[in-house]
Amino acid sequence: MEIRQANESDLTFAAALMIQTHAAHVRAYPHRYRPISDEDAETVLRERLEGEENLVVATQDDRRLGYAIFTTIDSPATGLLKSRRFCYLMQIGVDPGARGQGVGRALIRHVREICRQGGIAEIELDVWAFNTAGRRFFEKVGFDVCGTRMRASHTCRRTGDLVRPSSVPPVERQASRSSQLEGL
Ligand SMILES: CC(C)(COP(=O)(O)OP(=O)(O)OC[C@H]1O[C@@H](n2cnc3c(N)ncnc32)[C@H](O)[C@@H]1OP(=O)(O)O)[C@@H](O)C(=O)NCCC(=O)NCCS
Repeated sequence: MEIRQANESDLTFAAALMIQTHAAHVRAYPHRYRPISDEDAETVLRERLEGEENLVVATQDDRRLGYAIFTTIDSPATGLLKSRRFCYLMQIGVDPGARGQGVGRALIRHVREICRQGGIAEIELDVWAFNTAGRRFFEKVGFDVCGTRMRASHTCRRTGDLVRPSSVPPVERQASRSSQLEGL
């Protein structure tokens, strides 16, 4: 298996996978995620390709198997926090026909190696609670839960959500740099 930098010719493949994962997020959080077209998905990925993010593709015998997008974040010191530089994994996806064969693990290994070469010690990501498969995968490949974002809403009555009295408006959390990046 080879993992290489993506180029324009990989966008249709990656966009198709991204749309599948995105659709699951739209179903789980329709108040937050909006449906996107194939064209929108390619535009999002093209911006990643042309921006500061790394978009890599796993291939075997010229067949594309999966992709990952990651970026470096420099977080400045605040009154309470030290400055730090870390890698943020924005997206990872594997072709459904190639899952369970080590492609995702190979992509994570690649990201780790790039980080090691760049002197970056930590990789972080966000994964939604509903994505149990994704969470299990990340735990299997070496990620630990290092925090939990909690939410209360009177508009969402999904099982397990805390329901607030309807007279209390939902509290919008100040978005951090990483939460502005599209979730995995
Ligand atoms: C999550 C995903 C990237 C995993 O890719 P993959 O190529 O199938 O994963 P691998 O074959 O490399 O598996 C690595 C390890 O994770 C485990 N794993 C993978 N998918 C799993 C699942 N659904 N449930 C439990 N464990 C899983 C594997 O068993 C393996 O562990 P092992 O080596 O101890 O056997 C792939 O399923 C995917 O693209 N999902 C949709 C997109 C997505 O949810 N992205 C991430 C979160 S938003």
